[in-house]
Amino acid sequence: MPAFAVETPQTTYSSVVERGILGHASEYLPKGAGKLFIVTTDDVWRLHQQALDPQLTKQAYVVFFPGGEANKRLSSLEKLAEELMEGGADRTSLVVTFGGGIVTDVGGFLAAVFMRGIPVLQIPTTLLAQVDAAVGGKTGVNLATGKNLIGSFHQPLAVLIDPDVLKTLPDREYRAGLYEVIKCAIIRDPALFELLKEQPEKVLARDPVAVDTLVAAAVRIKAEVVSADEREGDLRRILNFGHTVGHAIEAETNYTRFLHGEAIGWGMLVAIRLAELGGKLSSQPADEMRRLITLYSSQLPSATGLGAHRLLNRLANDKKTLQGKIHFVLPVAIGKVAIFNGIEAELIERSISETLCLK
Ligand code: GLY
Repeated sequence: MPAFAVETPQTTYSSVVERGILGHASEYLPKGAGKLFIVTTDDVWRLHQQALDPQLTKQAYVVFFPGGEANKRLSSLEKLAEELMEGGADRTSLVVTFGGGIVTDVGGFLAAVFMRGIPVLQIPTTLLAQVDAAVGGKTGVNLATGKNLIGSFHQPLAVLIDPDVLKTLPDREYRAGLYEVIKCAIIRDPALFELLKEQPEKVLARDPVAVDTLVAAAVRIKAEVVSADEREGDLRRILNFGHTVGHAIEAETNYTRFLHGEAIGWGMLVAIRLAELGGKLSSQPADEMRRLITLYSSQLPSATGLGAHRLLNRLANDKKTLQGKIHFVLPVAIGKVAIFNGIEAELIERSISETLCLK
């Protein structure tokens, strides 16, 4: 049972990777917790309710969220908060998120701001949420102008990661999560890079040993990075590899064409090309990185119709743009990235248009 400690100035908690952990999730509830509110979606509830610990479900009030990136908005948060009030929530209540990254982000943010903050237990059910969204305390919602622009750091009581639930995940969602795992490999873990490169059949067939290994590797990396830099002053920025252009692609397509992980897949390809064009990365590792992404990208929606210049303009609205300067996380070797400021707009636009085949 690998458990990875996330240590922040305010709190320390475990991200536990264990098949079957859903069945004893109530062990992670604090003694004396008030009413429980499970925030979930219809489909997750239908598929996985049975696997959840009855000690937890019997005392819980279930609140449904429609799901989808387009619903990750402040208006949804207000509706959920009203439902908590209707269900009798007070300051001793606790939110349990049970779903993908949108549920863990919105449910986590709900907990962060409801009555100025109540605890949250994160139970992610998609690969993307298990390896990234639910770990590390980032919560929030989107604005039309950009991704996750309203939010808060709110660390959970624990993150319970059960790879068993991935069996029912649609293929497209599973592959979308794999892009975040590839991200971890490129930024910090050559051994994970090798596993993804050598065993694509096992990874794509969701072989339990391969899945448990890659989930644990990614969660370990996330826990280490967040423990070193919770508020993204420094090291945590490496987790944004692929996200600068990825977020712009999501916003430009109104959060409807790409799943988050898919946009990150494109964003990583742009960043690899930018690193290469800017002389930060030689072509041999750049080709290896592109080949790895391509191994898993057979279902990646095309970027047709997007404009390179419009995407470039979008970068100004990203949280990672500081005082007008666009910061890029670029790979410098397999397993190593660095942060670069002040890259010429022309080079960025060229990397976008070459990679996404845009004008
Ligand atoms: N998803 C990037 C982070 O948690 O910092």
